Amino acid sequence: MKLTLKIWRQAGPKDKGDLVTYHVDDISEDMSFLEMLDVLNEQLIAEGTEPIAFDSDCREGICGTCGLMISGEAHGPERTTTCQLHMRSFSDGETITIEPWRADPFPVIRDLVVDRGAFDRIIQAGGFISVNTGAAPDAHATPVPKESADRAFMGAECIGCGACVAACPNASAMLFMGAKITHLGELPQGQPERDARVVSMVNQHDHEGFGGCTNIGACSAACPKGIPQDVISTLNHDLRHALRAGR
Ligand code: SF4
Ligand code: FES
Repeated sequence: MKLTLKIWRQAGPKDKGDLVTYHVDDISEDMSFLEMLDVLNEQLIAEGTEPIAFDSDCREGICGTCGLMISGEAHGPERTTTCQLHMRSFSDGETITIEPWRADPFPVIRDLVVDRGAFDRIIQAGGFISVNTGAAPDAHATPVPKESADRAFMGAECIGCGACVAACPNASAMLFMGAKITHLGELPQGQPERDARVVSMVNQHDHEGFGGCTNIGACSAACPKGIPQDVISTLNHDLRHALRAGR
């Protein structure tokens, strides 16, 4: 495959960025999108040009590190992570635009790399359960109904990639937060901090500059883990309960 790539280049957080055009030949349709960028970077290094900075780690769709806006879509045309997207999803001769996540709370560090520390700070604010140290409890000591376990596991599948924020015109992180709140709120271990958790996380979300949800649904459509929009209803339910209780 031959491709024309228009890629966002930005030297640093305070520098002005721009789209720069590159051409690549001999791209196999079996390559992943990141392997295609590796080929381009080898080409740039051979030419003595600074390679393009982008994030990746596991390249197996499980860590949430990768994330690119590909021709205007978060993670590209398939419902998967950028590292699991393959070049067979594109046509020979196609022009592909590649940009970093678009959201003010995710400032660009360099080229296609953004700072997603805002997600970490939301988790630090309340996305956890507090447990005393000591021997691990017996696995059967606290039974969990099957429906609750399944829904908790669904929420736990969120990998924190940020595609939901990038896809949302409001740059809202409600799907991400809803997944975490559903995960912990379905489990007995998550109950003692349930009210405080949702209030702290929502406060931090707003403080970071993420927008509110207006039920557009772009978040869920872009989510590589298929997190459904109803986790946002769970979040709102928990928040209303906490506020009524005066938390
Ligand atoms: S909810 Fe989905 S899109 Fe959003 S951070 Fe989690 S895995 Fe990524
Ligand atoms: S690099 Fe880990 S999910 Fe893509």
